[in-house]
Amino acid sequence: MTPAETWVALVHHPVYDKNHKVVATALTNLDLHDIARATRTYDLAGFLIVHPVAAQRELASRIAGHWLAEGGEMNDFRRMAIERVAVVANIAEAAAHVAGRAGKPPTLVATSAQAGDGAVGYQALVRSLTGPVLLLLGTGWGLTEDALALCQHRLRPITGRGGPSDYNHLSVRSACAIILDRLYGDRED
Ligand SMILES: C[S@@+](CC[C@H](N)C(=O)[O-])C[C@H]1O[C@@H](n2cnc3c(N)ncnc32)[C@H](O)[C@@H]1O
Repeated sequence: MTPAETWVALVHHPVYDKNHKVVATALTNLDLHDIARATRTYDLAGFLIVHPVAAQRELASRIAGHWLAEGGEMNDFRRMAIERVAVVANIAEAAAHVAGRAGKPPTLVATSAQAGDGAVGYQALVRSLTGPVLLLLGTGWGLTEDALALCQHRLRPITGRGGPSDYNHLSVRSACAIILDRLYGDRED
């Protein structure tokens, strides 16, 4: 598993709301920009925004399109990050997008703030996988059980200083950056 074979998907459905109802959450501009920058910094193959609602996909494409065109002339770093963004309707389409580029279907890897059976450590995952990988990040109150069940692996939750914690509810943007650093970050210090 290498950065060049890794895609991140930001899943807006199926996720839970605070009442454990399955919902589609709204796209946020902040998630689009910050996750695009994190994935570009770690030189991943791409960042997929997953949304079932056509109007929300159009909004995501319009924001990305702006920063690739006239906006890109003002901010080259933002343009470079957004160049690797794509928009798809569901997780199956995200996997098909990766398969189309990588030449084979990706291994799906779930992320969650909750511990789950068989959750794997970050470096153990890097050592054990070869070929394309699609990392799923949740929105709202996190990926549903159905979405988690699609994944072949689940990463251990980030717990700050390590060990059990009474608070580890990161924004998806912060979680993404920490996860990418644990997977691929420079450990020279
Ligand atoms: C449940 S959402 C919360 C979204 C929130 N509304 C926001 O502002 O970003 C956060 C997502 O980030 C990831 N995440 C958050 N905290 C995490 C943790 N401690 N360990 C691993 N992943 C985490 C998971 O992908 C999770 O589905």
